[in-house]
Amino acid sequence: MNTPNRIEHQMTDKGYVPVYTTAVVDQPWDSYTKTDHEVWATLFKRQRELLPGRASKEFLQTQDEMGMGEQGIPKFSDLNAQLKAKTGWEIIAVEGLLPELAFFDHLANRRFPVTWWIRKPEQLDYLAEPDLFHDLFGHVPLLMDPVFADYMEAYGKGGVKAHSLGPEALSQLTRLYWYTVEFGLINTSEGLRIYGAGILSSKGESIHCLESAAPNRIGFDLLRVMNTRYRIDTYQKTYFVIDSYQQLFDATLPDFIPYYEQMAGRESTPAGQVLDSDRVFNRGTGEGWLVPRGSGPARISAMSARPWEPW
Ligand code: PHE
Ligand code: FE
Repeated sequence: MNTPNRIEHQMTDKGYVPVYTTAVVDQPWDSYTKTDHEVWATLFKRQRELLPGRASKEFLQTQDEMGMGEQGIPKFSDLNAQLKAKTGWEIIAVEGLLPELAFFDHLANRRFPVTWWIRKPEQLDYLAEPDLFHDLFGHVPLLMDPVFADYMEAYGKGGVKAHSLGPEALSQLTRLYWYTVEFGLINTSEGLRIYGAGILSSKGESIHCLESAAPNRIGFDLLRVMNTRYRIDTYQKTYFVIDSYQQLFDATLPDFIPYYEQMAGRESTPAGQVLDSDRVFNRGTGEGWLVPRGSGPARISAMSARPWEPW
């Protein structure tokens, strides 16, 4: 198999993160090994057994509609035929996590970058950076939904703007992505459902986010979300719940510049904090809040005796 073209590691406020070239490549489909296809099949089956009744039905429907299945790693060209016809989005193959501006620019032009390589069999439950399974299984199906598709494009444009405004605006906008596109829940007549890709591609968190008493589940409020910190290496302490994709689109339609001005210099909210103004679906018990993502429920109770630290 090819190896991804990683150029360096970069120290950021989130820790040591890999940086890849911004090149768009051809998905090297013929180079996937039998093991690669088996990893896809295993993860696909595992999540699809778990997700009915947990994932947003739009997600499950669009995933089927675009022809993702458990047979093996899909060809991007096959998926693109469906996707382009439906919403005008396309997926492009990249080496891995992109620098922010390059990423925003793709979204703004309805291109979703998907990491071409897949995790190894020993990384089924967790890896620290996005791979093909996370990007393709988790993010791509909802690009078939017209409203969500428009939200993602608007987000990209907002990203380009925030990038020019400076680090504070950028970090606020990044929190919005985190708590919606990656870890969002949606309220339906049948109960809360998952639409965030970071959850949808994780077995443990798909259960935890809905069924655990530990995390807060709080109604979506734009500025509240943009002011709330997060950690990338544990289950979330708080999930934000939207009522519809339209709500998300409408809330983010206004020019954000006045919002950034309003929030400038304001102290950010710790990830686990509940505010008086919150619409609370569940007030988290906080149990297991220090557990790294990917470890099982046994570890959660083993660590629950530890005091939690705000972050
Ligand atoms: N309307 C936002 C702005 O002017 C852009 C945006 C759209 C941001 C959707 C996030 C999500 O900055
Ligand atoms: Fe992601």
